[in-house]
Amino acid sequence: MNIIVCRDYEEMSRKAVELVAESLRETPEGLVSFAGGDTPLGTVHTFAEQVNAGAIDISRAHYVSLDEWVGLSDTDEGSCGLFNRVELLGRLEKPFAGVHVINGAAADIEAERQALNDYIAKYGPLTASVLGIGMNGHLGFNEDGIDFESDAHITPLSDVTKRVMCKYFGEKFHPEYGISQGIRQIMAAKRVILIANGAHKAEILSRAVRGEVTNSVPASILQRHPDCYVVADTAAAAGL
Ligand code: GLP
Repeated sequence: MNIIVCRDYEEMSRKAVELVAESLRETPEGLVSFAGGDTPLGTVHTFAEQVNAGAIDISRAHYVSLDEWVGLSDTDEGSCGLFNRVELLGRLEKPFAGVHVINGAAADIEAERQALNDYIAKYGPLTASVLGIGMNGHLGFNEDGIDFESDAHITPLSDVTKRVMCKYFGEKFHPEYGISQGIRQIMAAKRVILIANGAHKAEILSRAVRGEVTNSVPASILQRHPDCYVVADTAAAAGL
């Protein structure tokens, strides 16, 4: 694992974009993915700015979202899809060649899971995957106990995830399941960039990076990835 400690959130976001840009220069027709949530907001904004400025060429690249709350689509507040559309895709003046955003509100959620697998099989493997880390060490919705050989799947959310994630919904929505790219697909990415900021992420980040590789901390599997970068601000990196 390559560990990059950044002065602050802005530097973390810039550094993550640099790493994605480098991957896309090597593989311009590649497939990229960004997590939703608070952590990657600066990263996706910076990415879009650089695309619009002509510094990153995505005209031949494809985009796939990482995960979604089952029950929500990209028009629902707090959804990963809305994050993708508003914070990333909607800001791009020069679009990706193709985009797949998971619809967690699909009537046939099993078909939606299969569509995610199919898209990654067609345009993948991922060239660059930008991930956040959940408070229980999850990646996307690869919750604790996940089979490291999993592809796209629908999974019950852990109690920690449910508790922490009311920050997105308040009392408006109580998610029970998530749909997500699987660990096998993440591990097949040419490059993985795990970003983390804030003191609240320090303990789980240190368990993921310095602890044993175990599916009770799903992000720990990244220790075995051949080109993984952990990009963290000083507060999140305190335990590294
Ligand atoms: C959420 C998402 C993940 C995200 C993580 C951290 O549950 N499913 O994709 O990376 O938890 O979120 P945040 O960046 O808001 O801390």
